Amino acid sequence: MAKTIYLVIALAIFALSEVNAKTFTRCELARELKKQGFPSSQLRNWVCLVEAESGRRTDVVGGPNSNGSRDYGLFQINDRYWCSTGSSPGKDCNVRCQDLLTDNISKASTCAKKIYARHGFNAWYGWKNKCQGKSLPDISSCGV
Ligand SMILES: *[C@@H]1O[C@H](CO)[C@@H](O)[C@H](O)[C@H]1NC(C)=O
Ligand SMILES: *[C@@H]1O[C@H](CO)[C@@H](O)[C@H](O)[C@H]1NC(C)=O
Repeated sequence: MAKTIYLVIALAIFALSEVNAKTFTRCELARELKKQGFPSSQLRNWVCLVEAESGRRTDVVGGPNSNGSRDYGLFQINDRYWCSTGSSPGKDCNVRCQDLLTDNISKASTCAKKIYARHGFNAWYGWKNKCQGKSLPDISSCGV
């Protein structure tokens, strides 16, 4: 009996987590970023960055990093400065870290744009290591 209950609970948690998690294809991502207002001229860099940081998955929590911080979601946004791990929105993006893990990427995009405005693409190690000065993803057939 207890086993059955645990199984039901485990399945329910799994189902709930599935609802909110999404892995974009490269073109889906390019179109969604355009929709979120990222400039067309930067789209290939953003697609490269997201592929390097999260593999285009919205629910990735990275770390802990050496300083104990963690990185959240599609853009792997750091909880040291940008999002709050508490129950209310906070830090520089005035957002909860868990709101950066949903398949609606509106809040994550707003925060990523803020980070970019302050530091440029250099804020992301994934971009520096895998995109800077490298050939960027081809999104020419994505209709963006
Ligand atoms: C902690 O480490 C992460 C990832 O290495 C980095 O982005 C962040 O700036 C660091 N924070 C501090 C306060 O050193
Ligand atoms: C996504 O979230 C934003 C901000 O929270 C909201 O304004 C928007 O309506 C949401 N979009 C969808 C498709 O639910």
